[in-house]
Amino acid sequence: MRKIIFREIGMENYGPYTEPFILECPENSLTLITGPNGVGKTIAMDSMSFTFYGTTSKNERGDDVVNNQVGKNCHTWVKFEDSDGNTYVCDRYHKHSKYKNTARLTRNGEDKPYRVGHREVSAEIDRLICDRKTFTNTLMFGQKVKDFFTDLTDTAQKDIFWKLLDLLKYKHYQATAKTESDKTEKTIQSTLNEIEVAKGIIENLESQIEEENKRADAFEIDRKRMLDTLNESIGDMKTLIKTTEEALEKIPDEDLKPLQEAVFILKGKLENVGQDAANIKKEVEAEGYKKVNELTDTRNQKQKEVSAKYQKQREDIESQEEETRNANATILSEIKEKQKSVELESSGHTATISGNNNQIEKLKSTDLEIGSPCPTCLEAITKKSIENIESIIGKLIQENQGHMQTLESLQKQYDELESEWAREHLDGNDKMSTLAQKKMELKAKEEAELKAIENRLSELKQQIADVANNTLKERIQELEVNAQKMQSDLTKAESVYFEAEKNFKDRQAIQQKLTEYNTKVDGFKDQIKTTEEKEFDESQLKHLKNSKQQKLKEIEDSKAKVSEVEAEIKRLAFWKEAFSKSGIPSMLIDQAVPLMNASMRKYLDLLSNGRYIVTFDTISQTKGGEYRDKFSVNVLDTKTQVNNRKQLSGGQTRLIDIATILTLRDLKAELGEVEFNLFGFDEIFDALDDSNIGYVCGILNSLKENRSLLVISHRHQDELEADNHIQLT
Ligand SMILES: Nc1ncnc2c1ncn2[C@@H]1O[C@H](COP(=O)(O)OP(=O)(O)OP(=O)(O)O)[C@@H](O)[C@H]1O
Ligand SMILES: [Mg+2]
Repeated sequence: MRKIIFREIGMENYGPYTEPFILECPENSLTLITGPNGVGKTIAMDSMSFTFYGTTSKNERGDDVVNNQVGKNCHTWVKFEDSDGNTYVCDRYHKHSKYKNTARLTRNGEDKPYRVGHREVSAEIDRLICDRKTFTNTLMFGQKVKDFFTDLTDTAQKDIFWKLLDLLKYKHYQATAKTESDKTEKTIQSTLNEIEVAKGIIENLESQIEEENKRADAFEIDRKRMLDTLNESIGDMKTLIKTTEEALEKIPDEDLKPLQEAVFILKGKLENVGQDAANIKKEVEAEGYKKVNELTDTRNQKQKEVSAKYQKQREDIESQEEETRNANATILSEIKEKQKSVELESSGHTATISGNNNQIEKLKSTDLEIGSPCPTCLEAITKKSIENIESIIGKLIQENQGHMQTLESLQKQYDELESEWAREHLDGNDKMSTLAQKKMELKAKEEAELKAIENRLSELKQQIADVANNTLKERIQELEVNAQKMQSDLTKAESVYFEAEKNFKDRQAIQQKLTEYNTKVDGFKDQIKTTEEKEFDESQLKHLKNSKQQKLKEIEDSKAKVSEVEAEIKRLAFWKEAFSKSGIPSMLIDQAVPLMNASMRKYLDLLSNGRYIVTFDTISQTKGGEYRDKFSVNVLDTKTQVNNRKQLSGGQTRLIDIATILTLRDLKAELGEVEFNLFGFDEIFDALDDSNIGYVCGILNSLKENRSLLVISHRHQDELEADNHIQLT
């Protein structure tokens, strides 16, 4: 049996607790918790239910328990261990600044919780410890617990009873057995269907096998027909070969090579005729060119001689021209020199005249008054002076007249020189034009002689060309006659060759056909061989037969499977029955009821000295005599004979409740799977008289062995053997 050992119950910002408050659970001890009304005793014990299931014994949840003053960071926790040595911490947070509203379950001091969230944690607590109802009815005896066993309906009581004995799992086992059984039924059905399907497939396979056998027979018939046809074809082909060979013999078999060579040679010669003509032309032309070149050289020589002769004469005339030009130029320049000296002399006279005239003017313009200063000598003018001046003027005029006369004679000389220059110039020109005339005549003569030489050359060239043309014509004619003969030879040689070539091709074509016919004969022979060797493909037939065998085996296997599964169904039917209410659960209940009744009797004897009798029933008989699965608690006050729970007083009910919770706890310890080290009692003495309080104290004192008892009480503290006392203020 598993054991759960509770170590610590803690809370902070929960109910009235703003500071962390821890309730330890020491073993083998009774802890008494006291304090005034409303100090927080009940809510502290309730923190365990709140931590595990999110609700207190008074059904307070989340926001109800967060400390009103702080308004946040509500945290409660329970530390416990299991019998395998695992340690657990279950934390619940509400309005918590770090964890918000959640629950966490941590194992063996690991950093991360292994269950997080209300649902996850509650499910794990149900598994590890027990569900909430069992918790309320076996661990904590509350002050004002609504859900306590004796107040519950028959059905709810039965539910707790089943949970205590862990009977619900048999329902699940039965359901599993039923599902398995249904599944197996289905398997049988589907296997039978498979057998039917396989039978259908076998029928189909058999008809396919029959078809395949028919195909094998048809294959043999076809092979024989094919062989006949092929032999017939070979016969036909041999007749054809014979006829073709006869035709081949009739066609002459000549050697094409010499004939082809003859044609080739003639063609080559004919092709050369053009080249020969070109060569003749070149030869004749070269002869002509040679002669023309010789004549041209002669002409050039003659022309050179003529040009040299006339060049000599021209040079003579040109030297005469030079001499004449020079002599004339000397004469003309001498005349010009003379003219220049006359001019020079004339200009001297002209200057003197002008100077004299100026002096005359000056003397004439002077106021020649006696006594006034002389403009020339500045002495006072005298009559003599005046006469003297007038004589000077007279002399000057006279002098000027002499100069004038000289000037006239000089002009005459100049004019005569001018006429002489003109005469000499004309004479020079005449001489030069006579010489020029001579030169022109020479030029004309030279040109005439050169022209005559040129004309002669042209005449000779023409004669040479004529001779060359005639020679060329004759030789080409000769060549053409030869070419015509060669052409006629070629035509003949070609026709002989073409005839031979045609025969050759005809023979080739016939030989080709003969090869084809022989290949066909070989092909037919090959086909005969393959046809003879060909065998009917029996793989499909084999495959079909195999498939049929396989299907037959499958049917055998399926039949074996059906009988196997039928045995399984019988086995499952047994388990269905065993797990049903009338099976194992009924057996366990049968075992539990006397245990419970004995336990109840034991506690009630202690508490009431046998006044009250409480028994449990699980199966009741109907009027029809059938049995019904029902749970009931029967109460009897032996003193008043009251057997209805509602008729009992508050104290009586309290006593029966105490006996019941102790009985249920015993039952759980005896038949359940888990046992706890903790037992909590809140105001257990309420409504009890002093003697009953004494009995209860006796029971509590005896219960602390191997356990931790938490007892909240205002009264009779002395009668309890408390090991620890927590005084809340
Ligand atoms: N959310 C809350 N914030 C602060 N205080 C609360 C909160 N909820 C309950 N309380 C207070 O906590 C106390 C809870 O009372 P509890 O039932 O534990 O008292 P008790 O010590 O068992 O008293 P009694 O002897 O009367 O049974 C009450 O005084 C109540 O006013
Ligand atoms: Mg209380």
